[in-house]
Amino acid sequence: MNHLLSIKALSKQQLLEILSLAKEIKTNPAQYRKALDGKSVVMLFEKPSLRTRVSFDIGINKLGGHCLYLDQQNGALGKREPVSDFAANISCWADAIVARTFAHSTIEQLAEHGTVPVINALSDMYHPCQGLADFLTLSEQFDDLSKVKLAYVGDGNNVTHSLMYGAALLGATMTVVCPQGHFPDGQVVVEVQAIAAENGGSLILTSDIEQISGQDAIYTDTWISMGDNASLDEIKAKFAPYQVNQALMDKVGAKFFMHCLPAYREVEATAEVVDGTGSLILQQAENRMHAQNAVLVKLLG
Ligand code: CP
Ligand code: NVA
Repeated sequence: MNHLLSIKALSKQQLLEILSLAKEIKTNPAQYRKALDGKSVVMLFEKPSLRTRVSFDIGINKLGGHCLYLDQQNGALGKREPVSDFAANISCWADAIVARTFAHSTIEQLAEHGTVPVINALSDMYHPCQGLADFLTLSEQFDDLSKVKLAYVGDGNNVTHSLMYGAALLGATMTVVCPQGHFPDGQVVVEVQAIAAENGGSLILTSDIEQISGQDAIYTDTWISMGDNASLDEIKAKFAPYQVNQALMDKVGAKFFMHCLPAYREVEATAEVVDGTGSLILQQAENRMHAQNAVLVKLLG
């Protein structure tokens, strides 16, 4: 494992090892206080962030490392100098790069032209750190992740893709329910179906919200991702039947609600569900740090 660009690049074994190490770091933080001693991580963000930025910064600090945040107030990455020069220069000083970019290809370029590990902190295609935290969160509720039935309802996006790869590797059952025209990327679907078949999992895709039943957890995300220019009114009209509310949770028997955040209450999910007793949103947010720290220890420790 040289980078974390997408969960798709991980083997099942590597995914399980990251989850297990994350639990170990969460339980015994004192043993990892010097894990990144003398290491510096550059974080570069083209888009806003609360959870990712803060959980990496504080997480790196807890591992004894140093972190430097670069935002893109001076323009998008690649404007002042090529991404390749940027990556090569950062590699002269830093031990790893954490990057949140619009285009996934920018993260691939950083990995190609830099000489240090690159961690994807969200791109238009994937959000692997989120996916890892989410499976860590589910593993705290379910002993056997291969038995979990996870439904993702809403816009097929970067978060959906990462959940799909993770669920397939773990052999879980994942149902993705999206309005027509908002399904996950076709190539991702093909790859995930193959990975699921290898691992005894399954991926079901449907637009028919009435079709889903018997789920352990329902996951949703914003209907408009950062960088999407869709009209909110049009999206709200199209996605209205896909709102996660208590009636849907009850109908499918889902005990848990999940969301990567930020959540728009009364849009993709009702406040009753987002803030309800079955909501795992804060566990997911907390686990961002533990999952990322496990990745950092694997890559740099
Ligand atoms: N879930 C997540 O990535 O949150 P931020 O955009 O605040 O980092
Ligand atoms: N799909 C969302 C996730 C935010 C954490 C976005 O890309 O904006």
